[in-house]
Amino acid sequence: MPPDISFTPDNDLYKNRDTLFEDYTPDTIVGRDTELEQYHEALQPVINGERPSNIFLYGKTGVGKTAATKFLLDRLQRDADQYDVDLTVIYLNCEDLSKSYQIAVKLVNELRDPSDQISETGHPGYKVYEYLWDELDAVGGTILVVLDEVDNIGDDDSILYQIPRARSNEHITNAKVGIIGISNDLSFRDNLSAKVRSSLCEKAISFPPYDAPELQDVLQQRADTAFHDDALADDVLPLCAAYGAQDAGDARKALDLLREAGDIARAADADHVHDHHVEKARDKLEREEVMDGIADLAEHQQLTLYALATFEGDDETPVSSSTVYDRYQSLCHYIGSDPRSARRVRDFLKELADLSITARTPQNEGLSGGKYHDHDLKHDLETVVVAMADLVDYVGVHEGIEDVVRSSDEIVLSSDIDATLSPD
Ligand SMILES: Nc1ncnc2c1ncn2[C@@H]1O[C@H](COP(=O)(O)OP(=O)(O)OP(=O)(O)O)[C@@H](O)[C@H]1O
Ligand SMILES: [Mg+2]
Repeated sequence: MPPDISFTPDNDLYKNRDTLFEDYTPDTIVGRDTELEQYHEALQPVINGERPSNIFLYGKTGVGKTAATKFLLDRLQRDADQYDVDLTVIYLNCEDLSKSYQIAVKLVNELRDPSDQISETGHPGYKVYEYLWDELDAVGGTILVVLDEVDNIGDDDSILYQIPRARSNEHITNAKVGIIGISNDLSFRDNLSAKVRSSLCEKAISFPPYDAPELQDVLQQRADTAFHDDALADDVLPLCAAYGAQDAGDARKALDLLREAGDIARAADADHVHDHHVEKARDKLEREEVMDGIADLAEHQQLTLYALATFEGDDETPVSSSTVYDRYQSLCHYIGSDPRSARRVRDFLKELADLSITARTPQNEGLSGGKYHDHDLKHDLETVVVAMADLVDYVGVHEGIEDVVRSSDEIVLSSDIDATLSPD
C-alpha cells in the first residue's frame, strides 16, 4: 500500500516566496545610488527629446545591471508618456545570439507585425540592415535598443557601430536610436575595436560588486515581501549578506542562499529561519556548484579527477602530480584511450584547483631544491563521485572508490561493481 500522501499549504514562514526568484522585478533598487545617478544622467537626453547617448553597462554577474536597467527604463517610459515624448524601448537578451546578423533579424521581427516576420537565415547581410532601418524609421521618435549580455556576439560586433551610425550614414532619418549594451564579461569592452568602443561607450557605467551592507539592504527589501514579519532570526540577513560579499558580491547568489535557507527551515517545520539553516543552505548550494563544475569538465579532466579520487578513497591524499599521472594513465588504459602528456595533466590539476574542486599545495623537494605540487579533493569523495558517475560507469569502478560507491545510495551504476579495477 502506498503511504497516504496529501498536501497541505505550509506558508507559516513565507508570505510570498516567488519574490525571491530572479524573474521578480523589485519596485525599487537599493544599494546602487551612484550607479543609478549616472545611469539617470545618461538617459536624460531622451526626456529632453534629444539624441540619446549610447550607454555601456559593465560589471560582474549578479550586481544589478539588468534589474537597474529594467527599473530605470520603466520609469523613463512612464515619464516619457507624461511629457509626450515618443519613446519606444526594445529589450533583447543576446544569450543565444552569437552574431550581429542574428541580432538584426531579431530586432526586425520585434518591430514587425507577428504576421510579417522574416526568417532567421538566408538574407544577405545588407538586406537585413535595410529591413532594420525601414522598421526603425517607421516607428520613429526615440528608440532605445537594450542589448543585454551583448558579449555573446564576441567580435562579430558590426551591429554595435551600424546602429549608432545609422543616422549619420543617412540610413534612417526619422528615428533617433540609442543602444544600451550590457555585459558581465569585463574583457569584452577592452577587446572591442576602437570604432565600436567610441560609438557604443559614449557613456560607460561600471557596476561594482556589492559589499555586505549593500547586500543586506537588497536582501532586507526582498525579505520584507517574501517572509512574514519575525520569520527571520536577527542574524540571518547579515550572514547571507556576508557570504554574498565573499561570493564576489553577487546579489543573485545571496538571494538564492536566503531562499534555500527558508526552504530548509520550512522542511524542518521550524518557526523561524536561523543561522544554522543558512549554513546548511550554503553547504547544499556549494555542493551543487561543485557538481555542476565537475559535470562540465572534459573527459580527460574528469579522468584526472577520477585518478585523484581513488587516492582519497584509500586515505592516501594529498598526492603528487606524478602519482596522479600514473593512476590516470592506467584509467586511460582501461578504456583504451590515449593518455595526454604529463604536462597536460599537470595543467588539468591546476584547472581543477582553480575551479575549487581540488586543493593544490606547493611543496619543496628536499635537497634537490625542486618544487612540486600536492593535490587533494576539496569536497567529500561521495559528492565528487556522484558528479562524475557517468564516467565511473564507463571506465569501471576502481578499487579506491569501491567503498564509497557501495555505501552511497546516490550512485547508481549500470556496471558490475564486483569487477573492480585493480589499483594500478
Ligand atoms: N539593487 C538591487 N535591488 C534589488 N534587487 C536587486 C538589486 N540588485 C540585484 N538585485 C536582484 O539580484 C538578482 C541579480 O541581479 P541582476 O539580474 O540585475 O544582475 P546582473 O548584473 O544583470 O547579472 P548578470 O550579469 O549575470 O546578468 C536579480 O534577482 C535582481 O532582482
Ligand atoms: Mg543581467
